[in-house]
Amino acid sequence: MAPDSGIDARCTSVVGLQWGDEGKGKLVDLLAPGHAAVIRYNGGANAGHSIVVGDRKLALHLAPSGVLHQGVLSVIGNGVVVDPAALIQELDLLHSAGVDVSGVRLSDRAHVVMPYHLEEDATREQALSSRNASAGEDDRSIGTTRRGIGPTYAEKMQRVAAVRVGDLYRHKLLRERIETALTLRSGPAGATDHTERIERIFKDACAWGERLKPHITDSFYLLRDLLADGKKLLFEGANGALLDIDHGSFPYVTSSNSSTLGIGPGTGLPDRNLARVIGVAKAYTTRVGAGPFPTELSNEIGERIRTRGKEFGTTTGRPRRTGWLDLVALRYAAELNGCTELAVTLLDVLAGFESLRVCTAYRVDGGETDRFTPDASDLARVTPVLETLPGFSEELTALRSRSELPAHASAYIAFIEEYVGVPAKIISIGPDRAQTLED
Ligand code: IMP
Repeated sequence: MAPDSGIDARCTSVVGLQWGDEGKGKLVDLLAPGHAAVIRYNGGANAGHSIVVGDRKLALHLAPSGVLHQGVLSVIGNGVVVDPAALIQELDLLHSAGVDVSGVRLSDRAHVVMPYHLEEDATREQALSSRNASAGEDDRSIGTTRRGIGPTYAEKMQRVAAVRVGDLYRHKLLRERIETALTLRSGPAGATDHTERIERIFKDACAWGERLKPHITDSFYLLRDLLADGKKLLFEGANGALLDIDHGSFPYVTSSNSSTLGIGPGTGLPDRNLARVIGVAKAYTTRVGAGPFPTELSNEIGERIRTRGKEFGTTTGRPRRTGWLDLVALRYAAELNGCTELAVTLLDVLAGFESLRVCTAYRVDGGETDRFTPDASDLARVTPVLETLPGFSEELTALRSRSELPAHASAYIAFIEEYVGVPAKIISIGPDRAQTLED
């Protein structure tokens, strides 16, 4: 019988159903034991997840969230864009905190974020945001994390100047690629002499290759062999489904398929059904960066959610925009990802509100729809139809079982399940592992 290299019943995926920061990392860390590997398949250092090691709190951006678990490989798949300097810094940080990082594996086909990609991200954002306001020109920036994500994926699609991880030790080719990249950026041929810069970047890139060599592998065969051995795999989506380049609120999205649709291209595994797809959603909605947000609360309720939920970016520190739960968007994301279950996070943050509101439809052009509009210009025109549900006054953080939830908190969850059509099997009421209520 042919070895089974497909995504099958032994594969679980954890994916965010909103605009990122849903608390995926905590769930991945919780579910990792029992899996042979946790695999990142999209995005780069734009993602962020804090972990606590002893008395130290570390921010991870590239290492998969299962990295603390001995015996579980942490795989950075080919669909990820990797800033080697950032990854090395993360590995050093983990090592200095006593974490064994020998299980980190990096695909030789992942694309490398080069210094000029970081610069380009910042320059473009700057140019788009500092348009002439007095002349009525609005800010058109995306509000990226400035981690070079867009320019690196663009380079990948353009092909000729792209550097992949495996190229870091194909020295002749590496130098050529850097030279091509800089020449293409310099305008008319010969306008700038890049020799010195090429050499500097080339030297750094060779050093990255040397340093990362023990971790670099063909991740397709690694994963294929694990499956053939009957092992279980856990896929960790980065960012969030509403930031998906094809199905999110374009153009205010990231540059990869952050939904489960990214697993196939981002790992190479045949796209069969995943047995378990856990869609993670906050009990409310947040967004960082620009783009439409129908249920946004630019008032004291939004401020209260931000304060209670500590809604500040792990990667950029920016205050997150906050709003009521958008069920129209949530059902769309659950369908897009083929979710078999939901994990509702940060329910504890909603304690103390007299009433809670959820968006059940969009009002647009004199009518109503319960379909999401994954185009920013259309989404910007909708107003939310909000339904009011009773709030709960009890703090939830000390609860340890689902049956202890106050009646109105249970009713809130039941309303979500009913609307989305997917059971909420996990409820998170705080950052600790113990603050997780499973069905
Ligand atoms: P980029 O991925 O840095 O290009 O940013 C594009 C958009 O996605 C911006 O609005 C970012 O704030 C947002 N974004 C990217 N990654 C994350 C994430 O992990 N959480 C929340 N927002 C993100």
